Amino acid sequence: MSSTFHVRGGRPLEGEITVRGAKNLVSKAMVAALLGESPSVLHSVPDIRDVQIVSELLSIHGVKVERDAAAGTLRMDPSNVERAHVADIDAHAGSSRIPILFCGPLLHRLGEAIIPDLGGCRIGDRPINYHLDVLRNFGAVVDKREMGIHITAPNGLQGAKIHLEYPSVGATEQVLLTAVRAHGFTELTNAAVEPEVEDLISVLQKMGAIISLQTDRTITIEGVESLGGFEHVAIPDRIEAASWACAALVTRGSVFVRGAQQKPMATFLNTFRKIGGGMDITEAGIRFFHPGTPLKAIAVETDVHPGLMTDWQQPLVVALTQADGISIVHETVYENRLGFTGALNDMGAHIQVYRECLGGSSCRFGRRNFNHSAVISGPKRLHGADITVPDLRGGFSYLIAALGAEGVSSIRGIDLIDRGYEAFREKLTALGAEFWED
Ligand code: EPU
Repeated sequence: MSSTFHVRGGRPLEGEITVRGAKNLVSKAMVAALLGESPSVLHSVPDIRDVQIVSELLSIHGVKVERDAAAGTLRMDPSNVERAHVADIDAHAGSSRIPILFCGPLLHRLGEAIIPDLGGCRIGDRPINYHLDVLRNFGAVVDKREMGIHITAPNGLQGAKIHLEYPSVGATEQVLLTAVRAHGFTELTNAAVEPEVEDLISVLQKMGAIISLQTDRTITIEGVESLGGFEHVAIPDRIEAASWACAALVTRGSVFVRGAQQKPMATFLNTFRKIGGGMDITEAGIRFFHPGTPLKAIAVETDVHPGLMTDWQQPLVVALTQADGISIVHETVYENRLGFTGALNDMGAHIQVYRECLGGSSCRFGRRNFNHSAVISGPKRLHGADITVPDLRGGFSYLIAALGAEGVSSIRGIDLIDRGYEAFREKLTALGAEFWED
């Protein structure tokens, strides 16, 4: 049974922590290694549960994975890729969204792929229709069976013209991982261009792929006969960095996030500054701090890159509970990513959620009964409460709230945070937080 994590809030977080590679690049680069004829080496790999899950998925498909967790190095040898046992695949059902990205590489390597029921955070329906449509575009045949989805490519995979209805990160990665070795030319329009997607393009280019990214969100890929291995340093985790930035603000502290990079965080940094947060940007990292003056309310909406990332939204909402006035947050990427606000209200916040598109443009969730806009009145003193982690980013946001609250909070389901935040207990200790587990 998972332990309960108790936090005594009210202490400013002070000190330095390091962020390593982005969860949302590392897991995809690991899948890319399957496409190579020779071994790949990935550096700056964080010691998180999602890396463990993808390592296991690679291993059951015959990839030899050697990991030095302390050094953050992963060596993957795909010379003996083989079919996995259905029971082994099934053992990973519900644990991650990454298996869907195994399809293209497995079709190239083995001619078939079996995908278990997917997991990931419950922040909306999280369908896989774009992924399956993409695979069909390349000529794959998708057969939904009781044990999962069985995908084959009886005539091989052919390059295709694909337009995404929405610039989905995962569907864009699906196209990349499939097109690089498909026959002929692929053109993807309305692609996602998140920095993690661009970093995956860099990984694939190192392997021998030919991919160009145009300014209008179009990606073109010329399929090649074979790919080699890669050696790559993963882009730093800008979601983790922003989470610690918000923790510094909410606890009225000062945290130097070693490894945080300015460019991929530009939109977050603008928002943080508009709230009134302090920052010193250096080559080595970014120090985030509370300036000692009142924080300001803002109106923001999440969007695909270069907009404000949806994954920054949850920690920012906690910071906005401490801002002076009425803030508005319009979540346009996931239909159900504001459910976590209920527990913040139990802690003394004042947040109301609405179905309407508030404070910005109308989005695809307007008038569809999804509570996807939040109005936050602050500043409100938070107090300790008993809370349960709902999802990865929501969970870390509860941790931030608990660190800034008066008294003790008891958080259940804390292990979920291990999926994406490396050594967060050690980092909390380094920053002077008071917590214990039982
Ligand atoms: N969508 C569909 N059909 C699909 C795929 C997506 O309707 O087949 C919808 C989703 O439901 C969502 C929107 O499209 O409303 C965008 O989803 P996207 O495909 O971009 O998300 P993802 O690839 O599943 C990744 C990250 C998420 C991050 C999003 C957006 C990984 C493993 N996950 O998810 O990260 O929020 O992109 O940037 O890369 C997290 O790290 O906590 C996390 C949830």
